[in-house]
Amino acid sequence: YTVYLGPVINPTTSTHFDILPNCLVVVDPKGNIERLIENLPHGSELQNVLGQIGVPDGRYSLVVLEHGEFLMPGLIDTHIHACQLPNLGLGGDHELLDWLEKYTYPTERRFSEIDYAARIYPEIVERIINSGTTTSCYYGTLHLEATKLLADIVRSKGQRAFVGKCNMDRNCPSYYIEPSAHVSLETTKLLVAHIQNLPQSSAGEPLVHPVITPRFAISCTEQLLTDLKKYVETNPHIAIQTHISENQQEVKKTLELFPDCTSYAGVYDKYKLLRSNTILAHGVYLTDEEMKLIAQRGAGVSHCPASNFYLGSGMARVRKLLDHGVKVGLGTDVSGGNSPSVLYAIQMASNTSKMVAILPNEGGKKFDVAMLLYLATLGGAEVCCLQDRIGSFKEGKAFDALLVNVRDDSGNPAVWGYNPNRDLAEGDCLKKEVLKEWLERFFFCGDDRNIRQVIVQGSVIGGQGRQG
Ligand code: GUN
Ligand code: ZN
Repeated sequence: YTVYLGPVINPTTSTHFDILPNCLVVVDPKGNIERLIENLPHGSELQNVLGQIGVPDGRYSLVVLEHGEFLMPGLIDTHIHACQLPNLGLGGDHELLDWLEKYTYPTERRFSEIDYAARIYPEIVERIINSGTTTSCYYGTLHLEATKLLADIVRSKGQRAFVGKCNMDRNCPSYYIEPSAHVSLETTKLLVAHIQNLPQSSAGEPLVHPVITPRFAISCTEQLLTDLKKYVETNPHIAIQTHISENQQEVKKTLELFPDCTSYAGVYDKYKLLRSNTILAHGVYLTDEEMKLIAQRGAGVSHCPASNFYLGSGMARVRKLLDHGVKVGLGTDVSGGNSPSVLYAIQMASNTSKMVAILPNEGGKKFDVAMLLYLATLGGAEVCCLQDRIGSFKEGKAFDALLVNVRDDSGNPAVWGYNPNRDLAEGDCLKKEVLKEWLERFFFCGDDRNIRQVIVQGSVIGGQGRQG
């Protein structure tokens, strides 16, 4: 058992979160939260409490958070292309379809060489983990071997993830395309089998899951989509991820390629690719009708605001999606997005909400901290259909968490989050408003340096203070 004592910030809904200044979190040996107790007991009472809930004396290690530190659920990135990190920060003066041709496909092509993948994927996954991402929904390239390796690396580093290889058999350059729908499906099946056979985590349940990844409608023939339809219908529990309505030219081209469909969402629906475990990236240009359809099917949207600004795609109407009952989480969409950090996606989601709020005919409220916390954690968990396991601290859920440091000694001079003279109320107890401020500062000027530990299923897998 590991017993954490200290302040906890926990999302409850998109409009509320709990601030628990004195909290005790008991994590069992499998990494699940056994108890969450507010108003922690002091001194010898602690042993009594632990005894009462069945934690034997001497069978626990105690982690006491220092002043200026707090625990929050780990960040969930519902959309990231692991293979595009080498391209980070390049090509933002191009729009999507041009950018794919000029920057992205040439970058992804390099993963045909397994030595390149073996050299670069470990650093990439490490960087993503140290940004505070406890769960990633990864796109690999179209290559089977490199994507198997990506799954192996994620598994060995202990991150929770979905890993998929792109299905793409048309409208791509000759050097980066699958030879047929048949080959595309068969290699997908091999990747699924590989991931399902990875050694299990000590939690006794897999942390790495396969995800079927038709890149987007434009890159898939009707034959490929028909084959994928049959495959997903016989495998209802395997997740699906793809892109939807990101860019105006893309939407136009999609409707030209599928003249019998009346909408972009309608294309995916025709091939039974819209369901509760489907993750749709972007959704900037979805119509009300499409939002209704997506909500009806139970699919979720990955809001990728950094990418939508960087590639000049547009601004998603997140409030409207939520009002329609669509699940929404955040995605970095590297390297359409120019940062692998969900913190940056949080900042851009805030900016998007402010800009949408002042548009004529749009309106809506800008997002507050509760909403941003929700999108980055519990909302993402819902999009991944993992809301019973992660996204918030609740008894029985996995302990996927960040230990955040907003003290001056974090190494980040931008965050002066802790002032003992001001922050402590009577009796050495933290004020709730102070903790809320810490969270806000972490969101808006924090970075990797403020993340002391990244914890997945109870194990520390990254962060600045991993060694210490
Ligand atoms: N649509 C199809 N492929 C991609 C991609 O790699 N990135 C983004 N942002 N959109 C896409
Ligand atoms: Zn993407």
